[in-house]
Amino acid sequence: MAETNPVAPSGPAACTHRVTLGVCAGISIYKACDLVRRLQDRRCEVKVVMTAHAARMVAPVTFQALSGHPVITDLFEGSGEPSIAHIELARWEELFLVAPATANILGKLARGIADDFLTTHYLANRGAPVLLVPAMNGSMWRHPAVQENLRILEGRGHVVLQPAKGSLACGDVDEGRLPEPAAVANEAVAILEREGGLQGVKVLVTAGPTREPVDPVRFLSNRSSGKMGYAVAREALQRGAKVTLVSGPTGLEPPSGADFVPVVTAAQMAEAVRARFRECQVLVMCAAVADYRAAQSLASKRKKGKGAWQLDLEPTEDILEGLVPLKGKGQFVCGFAAETEDLKQNALAKLKRKGLDLVAANDVSREGVGFESDRNALSLFWPDGSEERIPEASKTDCARALWDAIQEALNGR
Ligand code: PMT
Repeated sequence: MAETNPVAPSGPAACTHRVTLGVCAGISIYKACDLVRRLQDRRCEVKVVMTAHAARMVAPVTFQALSGHPVITDLFEGSGEPSIAHIELARWEELFLVAPATANILGKLARGIADDFLTTHYLANRGAPVLLVPAMNGSMWRHPAVQENLRILEGRGHVVLQPAKGSLACGDVDEGRLPEPAAVANEAVAILEREGGLQGVKVLVTAGPTREPVDPVRFLSNRSSGKMGYAVAREALQRGAKVTLVSGPTGLEPPSGADFVPVVTAAQMAEAVRARFRECQVLVMCAAVADYRAAQSLASKRKKGKGAWQLDLEPTEDILEGLVPLKGKGQFVCGFAAETEDLKQNALAKLKRKGLDLVAANDVSREGVGFESDRNALSLFWPDGSEERIPEASKTDCARALWDAIQEALNGR
C-alpha cells in the first residue's frame, strides 16, 4: 500500500481555490510561513512570490517546501517562460494576497511602479481580487503617504486588512502587527467564496449628486462625491453581477466592467433609471438626488449687481416612489436614507413610502462619515422593522457588508 506523507501540501485535486501569496520584507514575515499552511488547511493551493528583500529575511526554499511550488523572486526566473511568468501566474490565480505588505509595496502598487516580479505581476492582474495585509511600525502606518496609498488601493476595490494592535518588533506597543495567519486565511477564503455570489445577476446602481441648473453657469446640488455608490457598484462587479451604474457628476473613474450611464439632473436620472428598471433584478439607489430644482432656469447668465435674487424652487420627481407601480415580483429594491436626526423613524418611513425591500441609512451629521468621506457607517432597516448595523468602516467594506445582507435576503426568497 502506498504511504501518504502527512506534512506534504494538499495536491491540486484536493484544492478548491488558487492563491498567489506575495511576501514582502517585514519582521512579521515568519507569520507568512504559517499563513501558507493555514491557507492549505482551507483548501487553497498556494504559489509564493517574494521580493528580493524578503528573500534575504527568509530563504525562498522554506516557502517552496511549504507550498510545494517553486518560489519566484526575480522577473528573470520562474516556471516556464521567464518573460511571461507574471502573466501566467495572473491567469492561474483566483486571489492575489500580499502579506506582509510593507509601506514600500503599498506605495509601488498604488502608483503602478513595476520594478520586480511581485509588482509587475500585480499590474498583470486579470480581475482576481486583491487582499493586502499591511504590517509595519505604528508611525509608518499612520503616515499620510501610507494612508493616501491605502485609499487609492481601497478605491480600486482591493481589500485591506487592518493591522492588529500589540507589541511590535521595534519595542513599541502600537497598531501595525500582522493579524494572526488563521484570521488572514479566513478573510482570503471569505473573499473567494463571495466571488461569483452574484454571477449573472443584473444590478442597477445609482450614485453621486444631481445638478439642477439655475442659469447656464450655476446649479443647485449637494455634497455627494459618488464614493459610496461607486463602491456598491464595484463590489457587485467583483461578485460577478452585470452592473449598470447611473451616475450624477463626480470626479471618479467609472468602475471598469460596468455599463456606465452619466446623467446630470434629477429628471435625467429618473429617465435613465426608469428605462433600465424592468430588466434589473436588484436596484441600489445610492444617489443623492436633488429634492428641489429651480422652477425656471434662466437662459442666460444672471449678472451680479441686480440686487437680491429670489429663487422659486419646485420639487423634483421622487424616482423611487415612481418605481413602486412598476416593481415586478422577485425584484429587490434597496434605497439609502441620508438623515441628520431621528434616523430609524425617518428611514422606516422612507422604506414604507418608497416600497423598498431594504433601506441603508446613514447619519450624515456625523464627523468623518457620510458625504465625501472615504468612510461610512450604515444601519440597515428591513420591512419587518428589524435593524442591522454596519459599523464605521471604509466605503468598500460598507458596500461589502451591504451586499452580504442583500445576497442573504435574495437567497432566502
Ligand atoms: O456620495 P458620497 O459622498 O459617498 O456620500 C454617500 C451618500 C451620503 C450620498 C449615500 O450614503 C446616501 O445616503 N445616499 C442617499 C442620499 C439621499 O438622497 O437620501 P434621501 O434620504 O434624501 O433619499 C432617500 C432615497 O430616495 C435615496 O435612495 C434616494 O436616492 C432616493 N430619492 C431621493 C430623491 C428623489 N427625488 N428621488 C429618489 O429616488
